[in-house]
Amino acid sequence: MAEDGGMAGDSPQASLFATPEPTADLVGLRQQCEACRRCGLAAARQQVVISRGDPKARLMVIGEGPGAQEDATGLPFVGRAGQLLDQMLASVGLDSNADAYICNVVKCRPPDNRKPTAQEMQACAPWLATQIAAVNPAVVLLAGATALEGVLGIRGGISRLRGQWHPWEGRWMMPVFHPSYLLRNPSRQQGSPKWLTWQDLQEVHRRLEAIATGAEALPG
Ligand code: URA
Repeated sequence: MAEDGGMAGDSPQASLFATPEPTADLVGLRQQCEACRRCGLAAARQQVVISRGDPKARLMVIGEGPGAQEDATGLPFVGRAGQLLDQMLASVGLDSNADAYICNVVKCRPPDNRKPTAQEMQACAPWLATQIAAVNPAVVLLAGATALEGVLGIRGGISRLRGQWHPWEGRWMMPVFHPSYLLRNPSRQQGSPKWLTWQDLQEVHRRLEAIATGAEALPG
């Protein structure tokens, strides 16, 4: 387990996409989240779901919120959607635990896997802001419409905005379809949501590599 309670990658080798700077202390964040009662989601949670992956990764993935398996294990994206996310990242050469830090807009499970409300997202926003500041990713993958809304404040634009880069506070943000949506739309045909996401992830990998080698700079 990593210091913040997330799972570090099995590989002892540093990822090409890791930052050499030490991350800020995420242990305090875990304690604060475990004590958090800022919204009604806290009452029904089994576990607060904070992160998995490497806090030193240059890639951050932000999803919507924990589902049943995440609530039971305390780790984000470990259910079917998470497995698909892992596979899709692997297909472009990225290891979800070694090359990425994975978290959600809300840290507690919404009942019946409903979308978190605006108030719940707002209540959880300080924790996500702390994660972004501590991990300091160069590239952020916004997985689904809720992440797009929760981070960039853009509602209902995932089909239009997926695959487009958004410069944001010195980093690159890329909205993509949520893996749960891809599970419901499994076609891999050219032009399908899954095919488009694969193009998006290849572009994410390309940009991470360009930043790692110094060929590209972060947005000003
Ligand atoms: N699991 C998560 O942790 N987040 C999601 O958005 C979906 C499933």
